[in-house]
Amino acid sequence: MQTSVAKQERPLRLRVSNLSITYKTHRGILHAVRNASFEAWEKESLVFIGESGCGKTTLCTSLVGMQPVNATPIGGTVKYFGEDREYSILEMSDKQLAKIRWKDIAMMFQASQNAFNPVILMKEHFIDTAQSHLVGQSRKAILDKSRKLLELVRLDADRVLNSYPHELSGGMKQRALLALSFLLDPKVIIFDEPTTALDVLTQRYIIDILRDLRDKFSFCMLFITHDLSVAAELADTVVTMYAGQIVEKAPVGEIFSNPKHPYTAGLIQAVPTLSSTHEDLKSIPGSTPDLVDMAAGCQFAPRCKFATALCLKEEPQLVEVGPNHVTACHHHEYIPPIVKKG
Ligand SMILES: Nc1ncnc2c1ncn2[C@@H]1O[C@H](COP(=O)(O)OP(=O)(O)OP(=O)(O)O)[C@@H](O)[C@H]1O
Ligand SMILES: [Mg+2]
Repeated sequence: MQTSVAKQERPLRLRVSNLSITYKTHRGILHAVRNASFEAWEKESLVFIGESGCGKTTLCTSLVGMQPVNATPIGGTVKYFGEDREYSILEMSDKQLAKIRWKDIAMMFQASQNAFNPVILMKEHFIDTAQSHLVGQSRKAILDKSRKLLELVRLDADRVLNSYPHELSGGMKQRALLALSFLLDPKVIIFDEPTTALDVLTQRYIIDILRDLRDKFSFCMLFITHDLSVAAELADTVVTMYAGQIVEKAPVGEIFSNPKHPYTAGLIQAVPTLSSTHEDLKSIPGSTPDLVDMAAGCQFAPRCKFATALCLKEEPQLVEVGPNHVTACHHHEYIPPIVKKG
């Protein structure tokens, strides 16, 4: 678990401040991310949780400047701190961003195993990725490193390198992509539900590999998942998003035992045990709000048993409720700790 002292001994990698992102839609302006702020440090693993549509992908794609064309950052900053300089991501051109993608910040999207070009041998994907960033690297040096990484993700390296993508299973492609994302030793790696399209055993396998890699390398990891058991296993810090907002952020042990936002508490209580992979959000009544036509006050209020007139009127801001623990709830002091179920 993180402490602020331990964090300060390691370099800061990302600082997102008051980031707001909208989409132009035919119904009007959709507020996908609102006023999001967080920091991520070397060797830290942040896991983002929250229901479908709460803005996790929009937030994370903006960190690498890969948001869809109809997305507009309407406020805030994203700073990436590299080895010898800092970058303001939102102010960078596509060309500048292409230089730091993979090399500094790598990202695996939802279902990104389909990203491989079907008519190109796997080894050419590794060589192209490396040569587009590192001038003068020999094919042999790149292939040697690729082999090592493929072995780390427990694949038969030679077989994979000499295959076309369609000759590999979904799980193998996902692991090959994992190896590829480590090829240029990025400082930050963002995983957007990398295991969602895979069967449970393969998911398990990939989570184990990620835990392994996390101990071996010193990258900073941002991981998006619907699965709280995955969050419990991979996170140092858990970030809960709701309706485009970060509503809670805390060290993993703290958030699962002592959540201070009723939405986080609801998500945890909807899972029978923390080790379960079953996804069941039904026990939180109601549904997520319309992000085009937003009501005043706390967005979670209509679903919240703690809500009062204040919640319907005034949107709560993040406040500190413990060491490295922030929440955006007017009534956080009334949220009881989680009683562990058998
Ligand atoms: N390209 C787009 N154009 C318009 N609206 C979009 C676009 N992409 C996402 N949205 C909307 O923005 C909001 C946030 O979506 P986003 O994909 O970031 O959520 P998410 O938390 O990643 O969801 P999921 O868990 O389903 O992946 C949603 O209301 C979604 O419908
Ligand atoms: Mg998403």
